[in-house]
Amino acid sequence: MLSRQVAEKLTKLETPFYLYDVALLRQTLESAMSMASKYGYKVHYAIKANYDPRLLQIIREYGLGIDCASGNEVRCAIEAGFDPKSIVYAGVGKRDKEIRYAIEQNIYAINCESIEELHLVDELAREAGRVVDVALRVNPDIDPKTNHCIDTGQADSKFGISYEEILSSVEDIKSLRNIEVVGMHIHIGSQIRELHVFENMCNKANVIVENLTKLGFELEFVDVGGGLGINYDMPENEPIPNFASVFAITKQHLKVGEREVHFEFGRSLVGQCGELITRVLFNKTTATGRRLAIVDASMTELIRPALYGSYHNIENITSEESQRLKYTIVGTACESTDVFDENVSLPITKRGDLLTIKSAGAYGMSMASRYNQHDLPGAVYSDEL
Ligand code: LLP
Repeated sequence: MLSRQVAEKLTKLETPFYLYDVALLRQTLESAMSMASKYGYKVHYAIKANYDPRLLQIIREYGLGIDCASGNEVRCAIEAGFDPKSIVYAGVGKRDKEIRYAIEQNIYAINCESIEELHLVDELAREAGRVVDVALRVNPDIDPKTNHCIDTGQADSKFGISYEEILSSVEDIKSLRNIEVVGMHIHIGSQIRELHVFENMCNKANVIVENLTKLGFELEFVDVGGGLGINYDMPENEPIPNFASVFAITKQHLKVGEREVHFEFGRSLVGQCGELITRVLFNKTTATGRRLAIVDASMTELIRPALYGSYHNIENITSEESQRLKYTIVGTACESTDVFDENVSLPITKRGDLLTIKSAGAYGMSMASRYNQHDLPGAVYSDEL
């Protein structure tokens, strides 16, 4: 969010690239961790949001663990210096080699998402001569009131095991000698802005934990996932998300005794510290009168608008014009959905101007692709400018 102040320095750099506000990242981590420590909560960073090595190095300084969704994410976390015992691994479709790797690395817990997976982890743990700690990822059947593309906890979702299936498999699960069920995990979705949803989530978690305990599972931790949303509309008004409220709601409503409580935040930790800086290549107007600004970034650098219709606030950071016009901002990829936004009010925008696409620190670079043989975007850090 600092691109306007440093615009002059940015004009000399090759675009497009992600610009990271390191000071804002630090303030965000400080806020999350100091508030979590008030309640004794443990915070994991969902590395899928952004695996930039410099960001990981800073995140590690603040003592977070890591939540992974693939074997390569586990490897990335370990290579970035995170203690394997601070790593959890969830994922609906883990390959055998990924599970073997997680077992080998002796991570904190493998969060299993099907009865078949529990069997496979048990078998691979036996092969390795180990007893492996696992968590049951339970589908809590909650509507998180967010974009349907990114909800994960509704009854028909592919994520987690339904409580009914666990109930009918209790003896089966308990018969597995090479796994130990030590945790319960739920994650209901992402970009949650209605905080009362977290209250519903806690109430559901209480019931699930109570029932699992009655069934004889001795849970040491309850992982309530991530999901806290950020302000895409007006990022300057809310650069740091409201961690205090989420923790306070959890404290008030989650009743899980002495068990450890874990969060796994992605977007809320890194979303606002990153912006995508892109240069205007051309202007043109369609026969229907749509004024296009064609920029040198595209859905290959930031796919969220094309994939989910997500909104990112866009500003021209170099124009000195006072008159404003409405633009449709399109990218370079050979896809008609490669549109960053329509009807964007910008000062008269010319070839060479720099635009910032804000709040792009999460699920921007980590979802970038090489479609059309585009280069992957680079990264620039505010403290190195
Ligand atoms: N834990 C689990 C098990 C998850 O699946 C996710 C995100 C998180 C934690 C972190 O959630 P967060 O705090 O970031 O909301 N690409 C989409 C978001 C997909 C989220 C996938 N899971 C987007 O760009 O909006």
